[in-house]
Amino acid sequence: MKSVFFSRFFILLPWVLIVIIMIDIDSKRTIRTPASWRTGRALRTARSASSASGVSAGTQQNQSALPIVYAITPTYTRPVQKAELTRLAHAFRQVPRFHWIVVEDSAGRTELVARFLARCGVPYTHLHVLTPRRFKRTGMPRATEQRNAALAWLRQHRSRRDAGVVFFADDDNTYSLELFDEMRSTRRVSVWPVGFVGGRAYERPLVSGGKVVGWYTGWRPDRPFATDMAGFAVNLQVILANPRAQFKRRGSQPGMQESDFLKQITKVSELEPKANNCTRVLVWHTRTEKPHLANEPKNRKDTVFIEV
Ligand SMILES: *[C@@H]1O[C@H](CO)[C@@H](O)[C@H](O)[C@H]1NC(C)=O
Ligand SMILES: *[C@@H]1O[C@H](CO)[C@@H](O)[C@H](O)[C@H]1NC(C)=O
Repeated sequence: MKSVFFSRFFILLPWVLIVIIMIDIDSKRTIRTPASWRTGRALRTARSASSASGVSAGTQQNQSALPIVYAITPTYTRPVQKAELTRLAHAFRQVPRFHWIVVEDSAGRTELVARFLARCGVPYTHLHVLTPRRFKRTGMPRATEQRNAALAWLRQHRSRRDAGVVFFADDDNTYSLELFDEMRSTRRVSVWPVGFVGGRAYERPLVSGGKVVGWYTGWRPDRPFATDMAGFAVNLQVILANPRAQFKRRGSQPGMQESDFLKQITKVSELEPKANNCTRVLVWHTRTEKPHLANEPKNRKDTVFIEV
């Protein structure tokens, strides 16, 4: 009797171990939460637990009830890439309940971005998808595949139970922390002004009686949603409820990406104006000047390899 029990036990044991290892590998592959972030969060919790004040404990509780902001950042290898990502991380690190989805335009995850993210102090997911060469021409919309890959990831890894807000955070913008407070209450789709776009100091939705009634823009005001990629956020549940909504290659003219996407999920009359009825600029399309590298040696490089 006893030997039967033991033999069954030893037959089952390896299988149980394999299943445990598979589950472990799978969860590691989907969300790569860096150890540095884990320690960061653990320290913060310990600090607020040891403080006697009930206020900080209340804030902690309240924060855990906040919808998560999912910022989708397409990025590609270029001289200023790490500098741009560094500027973004400095803002994002200060935003509670934040998840950064970084999508590289590359055949694989690059070492530079992987190393950067592991140390950036922001919870993240690192994805990659290579833009087919036929789409890499001037005049073609950019980052379409990368944004769609992030939307696909959200649809695979988040469900109706998850409260969140999705936002497209290009890496050549500058973000005020207030923007994240504003967008977090997005029920369906929210909009706000963006600085330095459309050939103007700013573009903004025109608001009357708390409703969007038109667009103040320097470029193609006939677009149904004449907003920049950085000018709107979408509730996660709207993304999940419209599983086929995505950025389009076919039939999409340059500069029409935002409008073509928003058409699939909302109407102008339903938009929620943020930033004081769209009268405050909280994000700027700053862009970083292309560095002058004319004196960069062609062949004989430095004696050591230095990542820039
Ligand atoms: C959340 O914060 C508000 C004030 O911002 C406070 O009135 C409320 O009691 C807090 N809730 C919890 C559960 O701590
Ligand atoms: C926006 O405008 C509406 C209607 O005029 C008003 O009720 C609301 O308080 C305004 N919101 C803000 C934040 O100013």
